[in-house]
Amino acid sequence: MNQNSSHPPTACAWPVVDESIYDHPKFYDLVFGADCAAEIKFILACGEAYLTRAPRRMFEPACGTGRLLFWLAKRGFDVAGLDLNPNAVDFCNARLKRKGFPETAFVADMADFKVRRKYDIAFNTINSFRHLGTEKAARGHLQSMGEAVRKGGIYLLGVHLTPTTVPPSETESWSARRGHLSINTHMWTNSRDAKSRVERFGIYFDVHRPSQSLRIVDELVLRSYTPAQMNRLIRSSECWDVVATYDFAYEIDEPITVDASTEDVVYVMRRR
Ligand SMILES: C[S@@+](CC[C@H](N)C(=O)[O-])C[C@H]1O[C@@H](n2cnc3c(N)ncnc32)[C@H](O)[C@@H]1O
Repeated sequence: MNQNSSHPPTACAWPVVDESIYDHPKFYDLVFGADCAAEIKFILACGEAYLTRAPRRMFEPACGTGRLLFWLAKRGFDVAGLDLNPNAVDFCNARLKRKGFPETAFVADMADFKVRRKYDIAFNTINSFRHLGTEKAARGHLQSMGEAVRKGGIYLLGVHLTPTTVPPSETESWSARRGHLSINTHMWTNSRDAKSRVERFGIYFDVHRPSQSLRIVDELVLRSYTPAQMNRLIRSSECWDVVATYDFAYEIDEPITVDASTEDVVYVMRRR
């Protein structure tokens, strides 16, 4: 196991709580929802490039707060999503309702679920797929998605792969602000175990409001994928063909070739 605890939280002068960042949808939505424009543009561009008829229905597994679903609903699409976290689903539905859209998010496990209607495009852009801890759960997810998306429809799956020829990135920091609320976020690697394919990442949100500051510390446990492991998994689902790959720059005119040094990948998969 490769231990890397060189970037744990720095000391802070405000209260610290050990909680899931997903249980704080308002903060999560500010941190990750501040800039959805590139993802939305990319999803729409993939519809134009890889579908033979204009999309109407969109689905997001592990939709979280629905930061993307909400923007797509505003663009006139029928949207729905699922998430394991009821707080996130409540937040997502409350925003959809507030803006006059149906409350179409529901609580479910993306490893095994069913939907009544088929979708044209599904997307899962920022690594949520890696929360699935086993090959069985990951394959179950791809097969459930195969039932949810119509033949010829597409699934955009964004994952951070583990490169095998260069050292992986170990830390990331970013900030977001809305009105009097500002959040500084830091993420670091706690451990990587290539054999068990378990990677543990520490993350904190430093939440600053005029009334108080708070640090929320969490650990994300993600399954790792080399490019070869990902290809094998997709093949084994027997319902998806990879038609293109991109990186997290989301430039539709700049597809990438995945090799052993690649980290960020969005797989564009077409339903057989
Ligand atoms: C990084 S967030 C992404 C949320 C959203 N897709 C976005 O782009 O903002 C990961 C989400 O995956 C959800 N999640 C984790 N495991 C899940 C599972 N087995 N089924 C459904 N959702 C899951 C978490 O609750 C969390 O909301």
